[in-house]
Amino acid sequence: MMPELDGPGVCMRIRKQHERPYIHIVLLTSRSSKQDVVTGLEAGADDYMTKPWDPAELTARLRVGQRILQLEDRLTGRKQTEEALRRSELRVQRLVDSNIIGIAIGDLGGKLIDANAAFLGLLGYTREELLSGNMHWDNMTPPEYLDRDQRAVEQLRNTGVAAPWEKECFRKDGSRVSILIGVVTVLSAQGDAESVAFVLDISERKRLEQKLRHAQKLEAVGSLAAGMAHEINTPIQFVGDNARFLQDSFHGIADMIDRYEELCEEADKGAVRKELLERARAAREKADWVYLRRDVPNALEQMLDGVGRVATIVRAMKEFSHLNQSVEKTAADLNKALESTLVVARNELKYVAEVETNYGELPLVMCHLGDLNQVFLNLLVNAAHAIGDAVKGTGEKGRIGVRTKQEGEWVEIAISDTGTGVPERIRERIFDPFFTTKEVGKGSGQGLALARAIVMEKHEGTLTFETEVGKGTTFYVRLPVNGAREAKEMVAS
Ligand SMILES: Nc1ncnc2c1ncn2[C@@H]1O[C@H](COP(=O)(O)OP(=O)(O)OP(=O)(O)O)[C@@H](O)[C@H]1O
Ligand SMILES: [Mg+2]
Repeated sequence: MMPELDGPGVCMRIRKQHERPYIHIVLLTSRSSKQDVVTGLEAGADDYMTKPWDPAELTARLRVGQRILQLEDRLTGRKQTEEALRRSELRVQRLVDSNIIGIAIGDLGGKLIDANAAFLGLLGYTREELLSGNMHWDNMTPPEYLDRDQRAVEQLRNTGVAAPWEKECFRKDGSRVSILIGVVTVLSAQGDAESVAFVLDISERKRLEQKLRHAQKLEAVGSLAAGMAHEINTPIQFVGDNARFLQDSFHGIADMIDRYEELCEEADKGAVRKELLERARAAREKADWVYLRRDVPNALEQMLDGVGRVATIVRAMKEFSHLNQSVEKTAADLNKALESTLVVARNELKYVAEVETNYGELPLVMCHLGDLNQVFLNLLVNAAHAIGDAVKGTGEKGRIGVRTKQEGEWVEIAISDTGTGVPERIRERIFDPFFTTKEVGKGSGQGLALARAIVMEKHEGTLTFETEVGKGTTFYVRLPVNGAREAKEMVAS
């Protein structure tokens, strides 16, 4: 007992100063009148005992206090959990409502049960359409993505999470939108597994990527333009020379034939004058017919050859640029594509390397051909640069090898060079965007980054390399024949 405070006073002070943790107060008092008990309890005591105190009773009462405190603890704990749950629900709800990210909930069969406004807005559906129960992932997925989606579903079933992947969806109006989607499973209130998909619109990024690819292609074609002009110039020149030769020869031939016609006319009438015969012979001499007889066919053949070469180059340019923006893959002959790319790049390669080709029998491959041509060109130009560095100052040439083969459901294109090789310390980085070891103007470090994006993302293929410093490098492009990777048939790289 404090000197200036009585029991009820102490109770009041404790209650005032200690809100938490709760203190259980048993008032021990010698007084026993009802009024004292009431004052004590009202001052904040939880219990009281009057003298004389029985220790057993005191212990029992303290136990009661302990039980009450435990109960109170449990209640506070539950309240805190509830509060945390409520806050976390609020957070999730805020995320759902914020419409930064599309969220859709479905059953594991792909039927959509709920979605937020961002998701519905992205795909052009209304809430009523969603609630009608007719929205299904499969109907919103273009056929070429169904295989990939199936793999995500398997991953989801096995692990509860499908790692984010890129795909396209049909909007209600039939147009397509590019999305990044990740899915997790959660248990519904009824205990069924549901899928929650997080969807991000990446159309803008895709458009920029496409633009960048396009720009890089134009840049590549631009940098090849001078070389191609040169390639076209040579055959055009000998077509011109031969045409001039034929033009010159034609006067003599025409004169000769005129004389021979005169002879024929005379012969029709009867005798032929000797003078006319002489003139015909002289014209034949002057035209140098013996020589022309032999050389005109040669000249014509060379002209046709030259025209053929120009046609080949122009066709290759056309095939190479293949500016097909279609989102669908088409079946293509990759050997032919490589041949076209080699024609287009010929001037770039021929001063540093001999090109050896070894085309295996390939099936038609479902692909975006224009993009793959660009990959092949980037790899060929890299090979030529690496050889250029290796043979610099020696006057020698290196070798570029182009080899194709089929391996089951895959085709492999190997482009090898006898160049410098890739030094160990940069091997990790050569696929990084803008990583280059070349001087400004010769390389911007985009070639391999784009090649990788095209091969891996657009075709679900692989792009790998083997290299030995001082010996050379081989890049391997592996593509699934049917345009999508079958996990089980993945070729070990
Ligand atoms: N065949 C190769 N042999 C040796 N090094 C290579 C070969 N291919 C690429 N590299 C290295 O990888 C780097 C990156 O290549 P990448 O094609 O991405 O860019 P770049 O050729 O430098 O520039 P860009 O392709 O944009 O013109 C090159 O700078 C070079 O150091
Ligand atoms: Mg390059």
